[in-house]
Amino acid sequence: MSIFRNMLLLASENKWMCSHVPNWKFVKMGVKKFMPGEETGDAFAAAEILSHDSIPVVFTYLGENITRPSDGDSVLNHYLDLIEKIAKEKSNIEISLKLTQLGLNLSNDDAYNRLKSIAAKTHEKSDGMLWIDMEGSDYTTRTIELYKRLKTEFDNIGLCLQAYLFRTENDLKKLLPLNPNIRLVKGAYKEPGTVAFAEKKDVDTNYLFLAKLLLKNFEGSRRIAFATHDAKLCSQILRESIHYSVNKNNFEFQMLYGINSHLQKDLIERRCNVRILISYGNFWYPWYMRRLAERPANVWFALKYIFR
Ligand code: FDA
Repeated sequence: MSIFRNMLLLASENKWMCSHVPNWKFVKMGVKKFMPGEETGDAFAAAEILSHDSIPVVFTYLGENITRPSDGDSVLNHYLDLIEKIAKEKSNIEISLKLTQLGLNLSNDDAYNRLKSIAAKTHEKSDGMLWIDMEGSDYTTRTIELYKRLKTEFDNIGLCLQAYLFRTENDLKKLLPLNPNIRLVKGAYKEPGTVAFAEKKDVDTNYLFLAKLLLKNFEGSRRIAFATHDAKLCSQILRESIHYSVNKNNFEFQMLYGINSHLQKDLIERRCNVRILISYGNFWYPWYMRRLAERPANVWFALKYIFR
């Protein structure tokens, strides 16, 4: 892992920076590259524009590691309200959330109960999926356990797995008999070398290995989402899908709003399913730092605003 990337990931966890940096004007300008705005209405407006090209979306209300149970209840209410709004709009919008935003860092049971209420409302109001993000490795076991528990009650739940973790192959093999909905990502957190591949080439190799495992066991997964902006990997996955006789209608690529839009276009032209994840909310600092760490050149983009 590069020193710069390491520094940005360390900064993403720094409490002082988290409370001060979001007020700096040039940082606020920089974050606009990755999110249409802080308000729910900004996310809906961006979804509306994408819908003109028939591109479906996933909404994420930014937040993580809440410090008070009452914050978990506010997040719950926000999502219940959002599901109502989505149902009214009748648009193809799904939701993705972080379990520490629902209080997994404070209480497993409270987080589970909030998650279950959101899953029940999603099930009642739409045919769409409720996606569970995967956070730092301290939460991996608990996140998978909560997913498995919820999956016994609702089928419309998807789980994110991270290719940089050594354990993911084993986790995926254990999940496959449960007919899971899986979103595969490379992984965005700062992890020690004891649990995760440090070299990008090893993460990429493991991503392709796990993608093949998903395609090979296609019957075992209802929804497969390859969440990556890596053009080479997307082409490899398409080739492997032919090898495993999985029609490209049976899986999708997911990408983040504002990143690699030419690849999004290219895949759509090749008649692949593409879904865009739109983030909004005012707690964007740690999430934004992880976006910078993924491509440190983004820092120069933000710095340009200082000199303007
Ligand atoms: P890689 O980092 O190799 O990038 C490939 C190319 O994409 C780069 O060369 C560049 O062109 C472009 N690119 C990638 N990131 C960029 C950026 N920030 N700015 C500009 N260009 C960029 N992670 C996690 O740990 N838990 C989760 O729940 C999720 N959820 C999630 C959902 C969705 C829909 C996506 C797309 C991603 C996530 N992630 C995530 C993030 C993921 O783990 C990973 O950090 C990023 O997707 C970057 O990795 P890539 O696969 O894009 O490859």
